[in-house]
Amino acid sequence: MVTKDQVMKVLEGIDDPELHRSLVELNMVNNVEIDGATVTVDIKLTIVGCPLKAKIKDDVTAGLTALDGVEKVEINFSAMSDDERKELTQQLTGKKPATGFTGTKPKHIIAVASGKGGVGKSTFTANLAVALSAKGFQVGALDADVYGFSLPRALGVVGQPTAVGDMMIPLENYGVRLMSMGFFTDDDNPVVWRGPLLHKAINQFISDVHWGLLDFLLIDLPPGTGDVAITISQALPEAQVLVITTPQPAAHSVAGRVAKMAEKTNLSVIGVVENMSYYQLPDGTRDYIFGKGGGRDLSQRLGVPLLGQVPIETRLREGGDAGRPVAAFPDGSAAAEDIFKIADAIVEKIGAVRPTEPATP
Ligand SMILES: Nc1ncnc2c1ncn2[C@@H]1O[C@H](COP(=O)(O)OP(=O)(O)O)[C@@H](O)[C@H]1O
Ligand SMILES: [Mg+2]
Repeated sequence: MVTKDQVMKVLEGIDDPELHRSLVELNMVNNVEIDGATVTVDIKLTIVGCPLKAKIKDDVTAGLTALDGVEKVEINFSAMSDDERKELTQQLTGKKPATGFTGTKPKHIIAVASGKGGVGKSTFTANLAVALSAKGFQVGALDADVYGFSLPRALGVVGQPTAVGDMMIPLENYGVRLMSMGFFTDDDNPVVWRGPLLHKAINQFISDVHWGLLDFLLIDLPPGTGDVAITISQALPEAQVLVITTPQPAAHSVAGRVAKMAEKTNLSVIGVVENMSYYQLPDGTRDYIFGKGGGRDLSQRLGVPLLGQVPIETRLREGGDAGRPVAAFPDGSAAAEDIFKIADAIVEKIGAVRPTEPATP
């Protein structure tokens, strides 16, 4: 017959899918009964009707039936009381700082910037996040482009984040944990931001979100210079900037804007990515629709490396519209291949430690 210790050991290895911490550590395991080959576990969910109940049930059942001497697993679910939830929040958050992260900081923070809109900044950010996740890194994405949030669509994330106490739990898809103002507004009623409110909202997305342990936090900045970049730099002075541009040679005005932003915010620029570099025709020749050399030019002006180029690709655009990022369905996509190469270049450039176990795609 199995022992309670053996059962608890298995449960210690099973994480709550939202909070990314063990069920035992989160005090979600209420009671364990062993009756011959039947194990009964009482589990307290953070909220009633927790959408991830089925996943927890599957994980616990699979984990326990793998034990010798266990034939049947029964799980009784209940919900935490307000007090228990409060205690959990306290445990998750510790003491909240005035600005910056609650809990452990992400190892690397990359703010993705561009001189102007429409260059593919959000599309690239979404795909880079998916690519880094596929390489086994823990990845979060913060949609800080509050005027034109597009990461929820690009990553196919719908719904509203749940709250545990006064912390929001990011929504997750393709292994990327996402927080966006788009979860709280609807397209028909755009938010008009005034300075102090914007500052506050951005700070809340950093301090009031249970990001969990992250290797990378990618931040989709609004185009241009602007208040958001300054707020981010104050809350996260360790953030680094990645610049997206198109190949037009008119890059010097963009370079000026980005350089000014870096100077104003004191954030260092790690490199440039050129997007929409060319369109590959069926016969293999390349059509440089938007001109040539803009990425190289901008990187030289900023004194940083050109980390890669991404072609114009119908599948990339379609994937973005359909919430199926091409990096998650990379077969036969040249753009996805380039995005994965750029992810490697970024990992190399900032010296991110490779995770030991890459996630199976
Ligand atoms: N390499 C690319 N090939 C084809 N379409 C692209 C590419 N990059 C971006 N797009 C498309 O261009 C449009 C603008 O991209 P978006 O990421 O929203 O730009 P930004 O965030 O810079 O404003 C979107 O419709 C997107 O799907
Ligand atoms: Mg955008």
